[in-house]
Amino acid sequence: MTNPLRLGIAGLGTVGVGVVKIVQNHATRMAARTGRMIEITAVSARTRDKDRGVDLSGIAWEDDPVRLATRDDVDIYVELMGGSDGPAKASTEAALKAGKDVVTANKAMLAHHGQELAELAESNGRVIRFEAAVAGGIPCIKALTEGLAGNTFSRVMGVMNGTCNYILTRMEATGQGYNALFDEADKLGYLEADPNLDVGGIDAGHKLSLLSSIAYGTQVDFDAVYLEGIQRIKIEDIRHAADMGYRIKLLGIAKMTDEGLSQSMAPCLVPADSPLGQLEGGTNMIVIEGDSVGQIVLRGAGAGEGPTASAVMGDVCDIARGIRVATFGQPAATLVKATSTMSTAETPYYIRMDLLDKPGALAAVAKALGEAGVSIDRMRQTSHEDELAPVLIVTHSTRWSTLERALETLPATGFVNGQPVALRIEDV
Ligand code: NAP
Ligand code: HSE
Repeated sequence: MTNPLRLGIAGLGTVGVGVVKIVQNHATRMAARTGRMIEITAVSARTRDKDRGVDLSGIAWEDDPVRLATRDDVDIYVELMGGSDGPAKASTEAALKAGKDVVTANKAMLAHHGQELAELAESNGRVIRFEAAVAGGIPCIKALTEGLAGNTFSRVMGVMNGTCNYILTRMEATGQGYNALFDEADKLGYLEADPNLDVGGIDAGHKLSLLSSIAYGTQVDFDAVYLEGIQRIKIEDIRHAADMGYRIKLLGIAKMTDEGLSQSMAPCLVPADSPLGQLEGGTNMIVIEGDSVGQIVLRGAGAGEGPTASAVMGDVCDIARGIRVATFGQPAATLVKATSTMSTAETPYYIRMDLLDKPGALAAVAKALGEAGVSIDRMRQTSHEDELAPVLIVTHSTRWSTLERALETLPATGFVNGQPVALRIEDV
């Protein structure tokens, strides 16, 4: 057996501790599989004397992750601190420059700096692996870069934030509103330190931007992801969707069109009997559509100690075996800057708005939508006790740009109160 592969782990929180446990409990099995013993030589975290429930005796400690990343007895720098910049980025750069391979779970860092880090890795003959950064334990990066490398992808999509799926499915199951379920998710410790990363769709948008890059050979472009969170979804939306045979999911969709790369992370209605529609709780699902393979559905835990550490160790084992795939599946210099576009696909939309319950209100809205080129399939006013009438509209298939222009004309009717909620109905 060749020399052991030595890990330096920065970050001993949920994921870091999970990685320590796998290394300590499954060293022999992984050595049999990879031909190398995997061991931890050094770790770093903020607080040295915290009891983390794992035995760290015999493992060197560094206060500074940059020092950890450049130690002579570290072969792979495992970055599990998080944060798009700061110590995570500084130590990752230091590791690559010092000739270390990097394994990270940090989607925020790669979504913002993926291209420059991939270039730095390659100029130093190193690899960055990040399976844990997208959909936790689901090996979707490996599926895209390796198992499905012979395909042209028509669509890559999925539910990539467990917290949002938990809130949405619990709203439906309990009949409680968004705020109550947000509090429940908070009590269960599901939310990121900044909850807007979850419910605002940002965390999931980070993940989608990484999948897009691999699928379409483009430079990561998180700023081009159309983002919409789940904060405006009401229990009524979930009920109305269910009545029509749909469920609401925070759905990411990446697609290459003639106009450019479309990346969207927004709440959508999906058929309740589709794999995505059936997804419950904090689970994630990645759906990949390739020209040769057809549709592939990957489902599993998108977060948590075990699943995320499992993905980190999958990357470590690949490096131990000598498998070296470019960060985004092809050399960084060959990744192109994509023109970004909103989806040009025509889909039906679900629209909910509050109308002043006065004569002519429904007619005025129907006229405004019609004049903007949006055709109504179904329209319903639900019962109400005050002067605002909740109105639901399902449109015939239309482009987002057409709908957006139509919605802009509604305030001029004088009947629409507040901002309508418009959700795409996606055929998945
Ligand atoms: P966490 O529980 O908050 O742990 C973060 C760890 O980093 C802590 O041990 C902390 O030290 C350490 N740390 C923070 N700043 C540091 C610094 N300047 N120097 C040294 N150590 C520092 O985070 P986590 O949930 O394990 O997440 C880690 C990464 O995995 C993030 O990028 C996250 O987005 C990603 N991820 C997490 C999950 C998940 O389910 N949790 C899933 C997928 C991806 P102390 O313990 O001493 O405070
Ligand atoms: N906050 C994320 C989620 C954790 O809810 O899915 C995993 O990235």
